[in-house]
Amino acid sequence: MTERKVAAIVLAAGKGTRMKSDLHKVLHPIAGRPMLAHLLASVAELEPARTVVVVGSGREQVEPVAAGYGARVVVQEPQLGTAHAVQQAEAPLDGFDGDILILYGDTPLVSVATMRAMLARLRADDAPAVVVVASRPADPLQYGRIIADADGLIEKMVEYKDASEAERAVDLCNSGLMAVRSQDLFRLLARVGNDNAAGEYYLPDIVMIAGADGRRSAVIETGEDEVAGINSRAELAEVEASWQRRRRAELMAAGVTLAAPETVWLSHDTVIGRDSSVEPNVVFGPGVEVGEGARIRAFSHLEGARVAAGAEIGPYARLRPGAEIGEKAKVGNFVEVKKARLGPGAKANHLSYVGDAEVGAGANIGAGTITCNYDGFLKYRTHIGEGAFIGSNTALVAPVSVGDGAIVGAGSVVTRDVAADALAIARGSQEERPGWAAKFRTAMAAKKKARGG
Ligand code: UD1
Ligand code: CA
Repeated sequence: MTERKVAAIVLAAGKGTRMKSDLHKVLHPIAGRPMLAHLLASVAELEPARTVVVVGSGREQVEPVAAGYGARVVVQEPQLGTAHAVQQAEAPLDGFDGDILILYGDTPLVSVATMRAMLARLRADDAPAVVVVASRPADPLQYGRIIADADGLIEKMVEYKDASEAERAVDLCNSGLMAVRSQDLFRLLARVGNDNAAGEYYLPDIVMIAGADGRRSAVIETGEDEVAGINSRAELAEVEASWQRRRRAELMAAGVTLAAPETVWLSHDTVIGRDSSVEPNVVFGPGVEVGEGARIRAFSHLEGARVAAGAEIGPYARLRPGAEIGEKAKVGNFVEVKKARLGPGAKANHLSYVGDAEVGAGANIGAGTITCNYDGFLKYRTHIGEGAFIGSNTALVAPVSVGDGAIVGAGSVVTRDVAADALAIARGSQEERPGWAAKFRTAMAAKKKARGG
């Protein structure tokens, strides 16, 4: 038996006025990735034959993100309701034969498991015409209500605006997400009218239209968090928080210690290896991969960085894009690393900037060392050899290279390459005048007395 094909329609033509934003609502990020990208990435796991995103305005903003997942964008203008929105996908789905998932761009965290459950219910032996995903939110607000029997067969779907008091008292709420066969969907939609409180073409009406043909539709339930819609920045923050909670729990379950999980900020693609520990107040921007047994200490900020097994970062460290920290290397407090590789066991423990650099294994970078990588126009690289020792407060004026095992004296401004195993000192040399300070004090004290001080 070959499995039926899948297509997805993502509705995103709503005005999104409550976001008060020039950015399209579905492009606001959760965990550092546009909400639409979260949804399309989940859809992609079903290997859909086609995916269509329905937008109103902002097509040019949405298109690049949609294209990244092979989705087509169509415009709904004007926006006459959810049924009308789904109809816009009829042309792009022409010739598609299979099961269609209807999803909302502003309900981005619906899981692949729920999508599979929708398809499984649609394909069950009793062959419902429509499968509707519902939840029972603590506060059912103005969601559309679903009147269903104990077996989850739907008697009626009603919008809050059109509902009676008794219907409003029902706590089973329409998430909006549905699964319908391609041969049914557009025929049912063609029969939807707009004689209702909002004067809109309601998608849920297809359930009653199928019912009039003697066909039943079924509801499946999921958790309230999973189908939480985002209409405002406050709701965006709530969904972000729930995403963060879930991901932290997954990391801990996979063997990562989070001492104060609620203070650790993760991105959609953060990878942290087993037996690593993360202290409080650490931010992982996009693109961070941490190996096993690493320690990320308090108040560190990491983005686009790789940290190998057993390395220690922070407290108060900043790893910027292109930072690659080798095994058991250490990046300490107030150290910034950008586009730089620290070899295994290398150390930059205090107050340094290491940018556009290559640091060999076991090298030690003293406190206050700066790679001067920029002359106001161009960037240059610094090479520090294996086992080299850079004294405190050294300025390495790139392009420059310090050989393996070389030592640079503290306070140096290094402008020329240093050979392997050499000592380089580039600072004013020290003078000493024996007894000078004592004589100075005596002379100055006498002068002050003569002035009557
Ligand atoms: C809709 C459902 C309601 C459900 C709720 C869940 C209808 C009639 N009502 O209500 O039962 O409880 O979602 O959140 O379906 N959209 C378009 N074009 C349009 C109108 C909407 O693309 O013309 C898109 C929106 O961008 C959004 C989704 O459809 O992604 C839902 O629209 P919204 O206006 O939020 O629907 P609700 O009235 O909240
Ligand atoms: Ca809504």
